Amino acid sequence: MLGKIEKINSLEELQALYAATFGKNGTMTARLRDMKNLDAAARAELNEQNAALRTAFKTRQTALEYAALMSKLADEKQDATLDAAPENRGTLHPLTQALAEVATILESFGYTMHTGPEVEDDWHNFTALNTPAHHPARDMQDTFFLPNGNVLRTQTSAIQIRTMETAGAPVKIFGVGATYRKEMDATHGPMFGQIEGLYIDRDVTMADLIGDVRAFLERFFERDDIELRIRPSYFPFTDPSIEIDMKFRGGRWLEIMGAGMVHPNVLRNCGVDPEQYQGFAFGFGWDRLAMLKYGLPDLRELYGNDVRWLRRYGF
Ligand code: DAH
Repeated sequence: MLGKIEKINSLEELQALYAATFGKNGTMTARLRDMKNLDAAARAELNEQNAALRTAFKTRQTALEYAALMSKLADEKQDATLDAAPENRGTLHPLTQALAEVATILESFGYTMHTGPEVEDDWHNFTALNTPAHHPARDMQDTFFLPNGNVLRTQTSAIQIRTMETAGAPVKIFGVGATYRKEMDATHGPMFGQIEGLYIDRDVTMADLIGDVRAFLERFFERDDIELRIRPSYFPFTDPSIEIDMKFRGGRWLEIMGAGMVHPNVLRNCGVDPEQYQGFAFGFGWDRLAMLKYGLPDLRELYGNDVRWLRRYGF
């Protein structure tokens, strides 16, 4: 009997045997009930057997319960190398993705990334960009002024100035950053992201500008059939100035960027000799490009940090 108990491998079996032994109609129960008819020696032996059996049951029960607990723990063990549940996994924000794509493309064309301060002085945001005080073109942008005369940068063109002031020419860079204007509707927010290209060397031409812009847009929108429309425009810091439109689905033309040949005054303001050097600049809102690429209807929501909105658009 003792040997049998030791070999039992499930708690159910053990319980069944226990019931058959010590239950109401159990074999041991019957013998114990009969004890009064035994002599002292037989009683002592029965008592011993009784105690040994109970101990054996108890020991086996503890062993089986311990084994069950161990196997349960083994099943529940957490695997720290498993990936998080997919619904909790984040992705890069569309603006971050778009910026990374723009940067990769422009860097592959030989442009290097530059940044600058978001609180700018008048010189870098306006004056050096051939937009002196009282120049009517200052009204082209609704500027946030600070009490000390500084501004919240209205255009990344300020980064052109800062870069040329320190690096001179030749120079081939793109400036990246937040810009600020007093405006707010579905396609304009008070803060937006701008990217500014600048390429100055001895013989850089308008054809180079259009070539780079076309190659850039083809890569960014992953299309090799893009159609562009070049319109004459006005910016104080370029001459000639152009605006570049791109044709989208349904034949809709949308303005993509402003550009032009950098004005000699701008070069001069940065200590670059316009008799030796010339080149182009272009500027665009990269949040706008992200909207167009990913089909997002409202620019303001890009800055809303609403995860449900991001999920709806697959981010
Ligand atoms: N700074 C202009 C704007 O914010 C965009 C722009 C136009 C930038 C022409 C340029 C440029 O570099 O050449 O509207």
